[in-house]
Amino acid sequence: MTGALLKLDGIGKIFPGGGIGLDGIGLEVGHGEFLSLLGPSGCGKTTTLRIIAGFEAPTSGRVLLDGEDITARRAFERPVNTVFQDYALFPNMNVQENIEFGLSLRRMASVERERKAKQALELVGLPDKAKARVTSLSGGQRQRVALARALVCEPQLLLLDEPLSALDASLREHMQSELKRLQKELGTAFVMVTHDQTEALSISDRIAVMNKGRIEQVATPATLYDRPASRFVASFIGTTNLISAIFQNREDTRLRFAVGSDWHPVMNVPGELSLMPGTEVTLAMRPEDIVMSEKNSPDTFMGRVASITFHGRSLRLQVRYGDSELWVDVPRDDRARSHVVEGAELSFRLRPDAMCPVLVS
Ligand SMILES: Nc1ncnc2c1ncn2[C@@H]1O[C@H](COP(=O)(O)OP(=O)(O)O)[C@@H](O)[C@H]1O
Ligand SMILES: [Mg+2]
Repeated sequence: MTGALLKLDGIGKIFPGGGIGLDGIGLEVGHGEFLSLLGPSGCGKTTTLRIIAGFEAPTSGRVLLDGEDITARRAFERPVNTVFQDYALFPNMNVQENIEFGLSLRRMASVERERKAKQALELVGLPDKAKARVTSLSGGQRQRVALARALVCEPQLLLLDEPLSALDASLREHMQSELKRLQKELGTAFVMVTHDQTEALSISDRIAVMNKGRIEQVATPATLYDRPASRFVASFIGTTNLISAIFQNREDTRLRFAVGSDWHPVMNVPGELSLMPGTEVTLAMRPEDIVMSEKNSPDTFMGRVASITFHGRSLRLQVRYGDSELWVDVPRDDRARSHVVEGAELSFRLRPDAMCPVLVS
């Protein structure tokens, strides 16, 4: 990325006592980009964010902002603001005083502070709450005040640590689209930490998937979903069947595999993949890539329906095939749905145009 706003260059963090927090984090965030750090609890998301903010010093590596090395700069000297997971509002101050706090530290005149606070409250949809006590606000309103307090300082980069995790599901979804709208409107780069893949997929321009102090893949939501680079990413993003298979042969652009003794799926594989016949691989098949089929041929397998769950427009089947269990999504209006009952033996195949990532294990 040329002219990235933020660049993390080989960031490592070893905690006192020897715990490895981060191991060689490299990441670039563009101007105006919404990037999420996604990963399971304890993988190092908050530590990464705290190092960007300047609350924590890295053990190795550099933090660059607009090409300038800011690793040694203190937090308040960075044009970066943070929205914390627990909001961290001052309970003894009203909404406006909370929002003006950062501005008064900069010795801004009170008329100007008031004007900016008013603007920020309008931006987050709380124009009438300036004089309200923080303790009288709902969780969603507090979240908006925390956002206004960070944005009023006009940071070049806004950091958000699990900003919506305390909200209930419906409010959370609403705030996700609000956050995205606000970010695009302001054009400010956001780096958001979340452990919720649905949230990251719906809100981000790009996502950095983290695992055990490392970044496994940085890509757009669609690329992460369609082309996961590792088993971890494939299983962390969405529902995936990870199936052991043996590569058999190539027919033009189509590759044939063997799964168990009787299933020989054939699929298009994007890009170059040179495999020796007999190589063991893992195929990452999405539930929607497996479909019911009529006939029994080498590219189909017989599976027993172990359970059926309702997923709106589709049904999700848990299908037993040999020793494995596969997730299969079938449309609810499928003509064959009358056969789809628990315990049924049905024939399945890979969708003809499925392009499942092949992970060489
Ligand atoms: N101050 C600290 N001292 C020692 N270990 C820490 C400290 N902060 C975080 N860690 C450890 O570093 C790892 C990453 O933590 P964190 O960045 O908070 O993860 P996440 O935000 O992804 O849940 C964890 O194993 C955590 O226990
Ligand atoms: Mg965290």
